[in-house]
Amino acid sequence: MTASLSSSNAVILLLVALAARAALALNFTVAGGQIFTPGFAIVDAPQPGTPLGGDTIEVALDVSADGRLPLPPYPDDSPSRIHNITIFLYSYDTGKNFTITNGTATANNASLGDIMASEPGSTVKHVKWRWPDCFVGDGQPTSADSARGVYNISIRQNFRLNGKDHYTIFDLPIAATNKIDFDLLRPPCDSLTNPLLPPDQVNATAANDVPVLFAPGDATVVETGGNGDKSSGSGVGPTKPEAKPGQGLGGAGMLRWRDAAYWVCLASVAGALVL
Ligand SMILES: *[C@@H]1O[C@H](CO)[C@@H](O)[C@H](O)[C@H]1NC(C)=O
Ligand SMILES: *[C@@H]1O[C@H](CO)[C@@H](O)[C@H](O)[C@H]1NC(C)=O
Ligand SMILES: *[C@@H]1O[C@H](CO)[C@@H](O)[C@H](O)[C@H]1NC(C)=O
Ligand SMILES: *[C@@H]1O[C@H](CO)[C@@H](O)[C@H](O)[C@H]1NC(C)=O
Ligand SMILES: *[C@@H]1O[C@H](CO)[C@@H](O)[C@H](O)[C@H]1NC(C)=O
Ligand SMILES: *[C@@H]1O[C@H](CO)[C@@H](O)[C@H](O)[C@H]1NC(C)=O
Ligand SMILES: *[C@@H]1O[C@H](CO)[C@@H](O)[C@H](O)[C@H]1NC(C)=O
Repeated sequence: MTASLSSSNAVILLLVALAARAALALNFTVAGGQIFTPGFAIVDAPQPGTPLGGDTIEVALDVSADGRLPLPPYPDDSPSRIHNITIFLYSYDTGKNFTITNGTATANNASLGDIMASEPGSTVKHVKWRWPDCFVGDGQPTSADSARGVYNISIRQNFRLNGKDHYTIFDLPIAATNKIDFDLLRPPCDSLTNPLLPPDQVNATAANDVPVLFAPGDATVVETGGNGDKSSGSGVGPTKPEAKPGQGLGGAGMLRWRDAAYWVCLASVAGALVL
């Protein structure tokens, strides 16, 4: 069963004001540098609003809900599991929608295969995607038809929680504005392009039938294991020390974060988004 988030002060709602011209504000639940989503995945990096560049974009995802969900392979009758996670990079600003991973790798890993199968044994999957060629440049976009600019990393989770299947969409804003060097290894953008659907056809609200889960203070208990794995039964989460609201993250640590780092964090987000 899913308990909704308590109003515990352990849960920090980070308000990110995106580009002023969009007059848009989005809420993120951030604790201890982790961004919680409507699903088992927890984003360790990047932080919302970060300007990105370099050779690859790297998304670090904890796919165990901080240790509450075991790694695959799951028992066939497991009441909780991740079916798959797909990730797209899209922008209504630039009109682009690229595949980061849809479960099937393309040539040279231009789009990536099943991330749940990557880094076996690791609860954190480092999704490294080589920037395709149209992102080459440095700084803000210089022409109206540039692919550079603000984007969402759109994380789509197909999962089962305590016997019920869900599909959720979580959009994490970033800016592709740091330096991306020319490199012959960069895949053509065209090979990764998907149609960009209008918001009413994406309908994230309808997809997201669960709230943000597993943040400190959330009492959701994950039932795991099937017949082959009775021992792990239910309640894997709460038996993990780091999952207890009263400890570590949930207690004084959070308050320290709120007092000290909160403004630093807001300031850096604001700084990152000045266009
Ligand atoms: C952010 O969350 C708070 C608390 O849940 C809510 O009051 C506020 O309206 C939300 N803001 C946006 C822009 O969604
Ligand atoms: C993801 O899982 C869902 C539910 O099992 C399935 O319908 C869908 O085809 C899968 N998608 C991918 C890309 O594997
Ligand atoms: C990012 O996602 C939010 C929420 O889904 C959406 O309102 C916003 O327009 C998107 N940003 C861009 C640049 O497409
Ligand atoms: C694609 O990535 C997978 C997982 O990291 C790796 O095993 C495979 O060799 C890569 N394929 C190519 C063509 O680079
Ligand atoms: C996955 O994405 C790649 C690159 O966009 C595309 O060529 C391929 O058709 C997609 N596969 C599926 C099953 O959607
Ligand atoms: C981006 O493309 C994927 C694959 O076609 C699609 O599932 C997704 O809804 C698209 N996103 C947007 C915002 O159009
Ligand atoms: C989203 O989907 C729900 C359920 O399918 C529907 O009732 C609602 O009208 C849709 N919203 C938009 C904006 O299309």
